[in-house]
Amino acid sequence: MSNPVTLNVADHSLELPVKDGSIGPSVVDIGKLYAQSGMFTYDPGFTSTASCESKITYIDGDEGVLLYRGFPIDQLAEHGDFLETCYLLLYGELPTASQRTDFNYRVTRHTMVHEQMMRFFQGFRRDAHPMSVMVASVGALSAFYHDSTDIADENQRMIASMRMIAKFPTLAAMAYKYSIGQPFVYPQNDLDYTSNFLRMCFAVPCEEYKVNPVLSRALDRIFILHADHEQNASTSTVRLAGSSGANPFACIAAGVACLWGPAHGGANEAALKMLQEIGTVDRIPEFIARAKDKNDPFRLMGFGHRVYKNYDPRAKIMQKTAHEVLNELGIKDDPLLDIAVELERIALSDPYFIEKKLYPNVDFYSGITLKAMGFPTSMFTALFALARTVGWIAQWKEMIEDPSQKIGRPRQLYTGSPKRDYVPSHMR
Ligand code: CMC
Repeated sequence: MSNPVTLNVADHSLELPVKDGSIGPSVVDIGKLYAQSGMFTYDPGFTSTASCESKITYIDGDEGVLLYRGFPIDQLAEHGDFLETCYLLLYGELPTASQRTDFNYRVTRHTMVHEQMMRFFQGFRRDAHPMSVMVASVGALSAFYHDSTDIADENQRMIASMRMIAKFPTLAAMAYKYSIGQPFVYPQNDLDYTSNFLRMCFAVPCEEYKVNPVLSRALDRIFILHADHEQNASTSTVRLAGSSGANPFACIAAGVACLWGPAHGGANEAALKMLQEIGTVDRIPEFIARAKDKNDPFRLMGFGHRVYKNYDPRAKIMQKTAHEVLNELGIKDDPLLDIAVELERIALSDPYFIEKKLYPNVDFYSGITLKAMGFPTSMFTALFALARTVGWIAQWKEMIEDPSQKIGRPRQLYTGSPKRDYVPSHMR
């Protein structure tokens, strides 16, 4: 237990308790600061603020460490599978053999969506971005599954969680099929989670579809890498939405919406578009110069991270996965991969990027991999959302099940006009 810190405010000093975690920085508990001093703290972007206590995911950004429930991400990605990771995130332990069979069975039983969802889809334009379809269709689940929206009921919470983990791939595949004008493919429950998703995306009724196990394993690993990342923007959005007592489907839809932005989950799409725009290796210096130019808003997409000031541990696994997938598909020379490798090499030896500790993040290589698998760029963020759904749910459940939970309500530094009187329009 660390000693409290003393804060001198105006003419008095306050003792603020310090709370220690199991690993990582301690926090100063400022919960009583306003009551005792009349002041708020100010930290836009939450760069120094812990918004909650959590037992799920730990990141050491300086060392490039990511742990799910204590297990290093590289071990899980190498030896585990995505559904096992889901179990771990939700329940805190790796499943035994029978727990695993039971969990897989429960998820699998929920893969179909209400048949009327098909008609719901017909309302979208064919060129709608898959993320807009996902925001709407995940939110719409609350209209189709009323029997699992009571957050006070533990059983309903669990059923809603299973439904979202199971149905997200079905909805994402439907969003893709709809965009290319192909019929929806129903889930096939004797396939594993990720193979089933690949089949729903790429099978057509007129041909037999055989899942490529190398691609399925690679995509499963990508899902593991994206499953949770502690209190990032979309997870904080889910927690904040959930803190008001909103139903879980609505909360996860809020997370999907937040993830869409290019500074967050949208970066994988933006990174691939950037590589395509660069086009050839000889144009890299031009883009590096733009990224360093203060007067140019351009940034190297897939570079930099709020927390990692070292190589993102997910990026290393992602890079290896990219090579595996390209090899399997017999793509010997992918110009985009060549540009990515060279861009990374140049950026990592450039003083600007070294000084600012800007390293490739998980999104740098994921686009190349997903594109090689056959996914269009517009689907990339939807795939990220698919994988992150379990993390959002685990974090939402942790919050709801915390007896001290209350509605999230930040305060502000007001810099607008002081009180003034209304002036009738003819006198303005
Ligand atoms: N290219 C060029 N300069 C950069 C970049 C970049 N990608 N990222 C940060 N910088 C510079 C930035 O201009 C700033 O410089 P200065 O101190 O001179 O003003 C400095 O580095 C710190 O940047 P920041 O914006 O204050 O840092 P942040 O922690 O607020 O932003 C970030 C983190 C991820 C939003 C940012 O690095 C970025 O925009 N990266 C590109 C988008 C991206 O790849 N996002 C995916 C993140 S990983 C997946 C996920 O979590 O969703």
